[in-house]
Amino acid sequence: MAQEDVFRKLVSHCKEYGFVFQSSEIYDGLAAVYDYGQMGVELKNNIKKYWWDSMVLLHENIVGIDSSIFMHPTIWKASGHVDAFNDPLIDNKESKKRYRADVLIEDYLAKLDDKVDKEVEKAAKRFGDKFDETMYRETNPRVVENISKRNEIHERFSKALNDNDLGELRQIIVDCEIACPVSGTRNWTDVRQFNLMFSTEMGATSDGALKVYLRPETAQGIFVNYLNVQKTGRMRIPFGIAQIGKAFRNEIVARQFIFRMREFEQMELQFFVKPGEEIEWYEHWKEVRMKWHQALGFGAENYRFHDHEKMSHYANAATDIEYQMPFGFKEVEGIHSRTDFDLKQHEKFSGKKMQYFDPELNKSYIPYVVETSIGVDRMFLSVIAASYCEETLEKGETRVVMKLPPALAPVKAAILPLVRKDGLPEKAREVMDELKFNFTCQYDEKDSIGRRYRRQDAIGTPYCVTIDHQTLEDNTVTIRERDSMEQKRVTIDLVEKEISAKTNMQSLLKKLI
Ligand code: GAP
Repeated sequence: MAQEDVFRKLVSHCKEYGFVFQSSEIYDGLAAVYDYGQMGVELKNNIKKYWWDSMVLLHENIVGIDSSIFMHPTIWKASGHVDAFNDPLIDNKESKKRYRADVLIEDYLAKLDDKVDKEVEKAAKRFGDKFDETMYRETNPRVVENISKRNEIHERFSKALNDNDLGELRQIIVDCEIACPVSGTRNWTDVRQFNLMFSTEMGATSDGALKVYLRPETAQGIFVNYLNVQKTGRMRIPFGIAQIGKAFRNEIVARQFIFRMREFEQMELQFFVKPGEEIEWYEHWKEVRMKWHQALGFGAENYRFHDHEKMSHYANAATDIEYQMPFGFKEVEGIHSRTDFDLKQHEKFSGKKMQYFDPELNKSYIPYVVETSIGVDRMFLSVIAASYCEETLEKGETRVVMKLPPALAPVKAAILPLVRKDGLPEKAREVMDELKFNFTCQYDEKDSIGRRYRRQDAIGTPYCVTIDHQTLEDNTVTIRERDSMEQKRVTIDLVEKEISAKTNMQSLLKKLI
């Protein structure tokens, strides 16, 4: 099945089973804003818990905070967001559609890469074992031409981004003959900068109202609280502050479902270190974060690092962790060595000292910061994309199953009386009443047992506990495992232990150590 079809199916599956809904749907929706349904919120909470526990529970030197969305507007001046948190935009004069100029060029480069890969793949099939890929890439005229064209554009593009040269970005679009996907024409406006922050007014009257911003990242709430936490928590460098919370960006190219949203959630860690040690810690956090992703078991080959071409205004090293989504490798998390930029700026703009007194060195300094920043919604998308599976079973029957890591699954166990009579629902309720204190359960007695299994497969429930006539005789039930569909009989008093052991967060967290 084509990847676009898989993605389309995934989006409709998310709606059908209560994972994600378009926001304000009955009013025809609000672009790039989404609501999480009854299953989605459970999965999202489990993702957040996995992250929070991996940071705060497993590290003695990391604590959490929850700062407000509204902050003093000068914070955003100090951080550089008022002046530099921009996207380069270009409009097509025919279709009136607006695009990010950098995205148009990146898509063009990706197409060139694709062309080369397809050519190499075809040749590999043709030549079989004798195929020498390096030699082919270096000598085949069509491949050589496309690679050198790609490299030339790439070099111009990197330079234009670094120099903030909007004219050159437009020229690259013109030279590459990039056309508007809607009108098909190349009638482009100039490239302009567009600030991504939403603003509103705080205060009763418009006269005295203060212009405030909806935070575009949670990180600044950590920076401005760093000394509060350090002093009240008696933290010593190196230490970290973790936070999960909403962020807002007026994204122009909002697409691919929950990949790029205008209201989203971030999980951020700011790790404060001695100046000069930041690159060592940056490497450390790269490794730790990659391990966190890979512990979910979706295959190491589906992840990669992508080092930044253009560093943000605050960073001296930066990389993304990308996951292979149905629409290609895409950024899920950023890891940035942010230097002492933010703290220095806050010292300058607030007039308050942001220095840390280091008792080991007996001197004060502004710490350097390594940040890990992951979008909850992008993580959610990578988890559901990796878990969605269509299977053909024996006798040609098909099922859709979400092979979610059990610790993340919204419902851990479904409690199912085989039939709706003979005292089985009452017995099933008894089992449910015992289990519901330990993990999320769902009781279901409607339809045939086969249909009920399929419903649970579709939401990723790892275990189904079935109460049948034998249960009334010997107090045993069957436990059906989602992926293998194998069933085994166990006594009721063992069910809790058995399911807890396989679905709790500890089993996942232990893989990180
Ligand atoms: N504090 C650093 C920071 O905000 P970023 O690379 O701009 O860095 C970090 O964002 C992460 O936030 C991204 O890797 C992505 O997962 C998520 N993110 C950013 N913009 C987003 C959007 N519009 N929709 C959904 N997630 C987004």
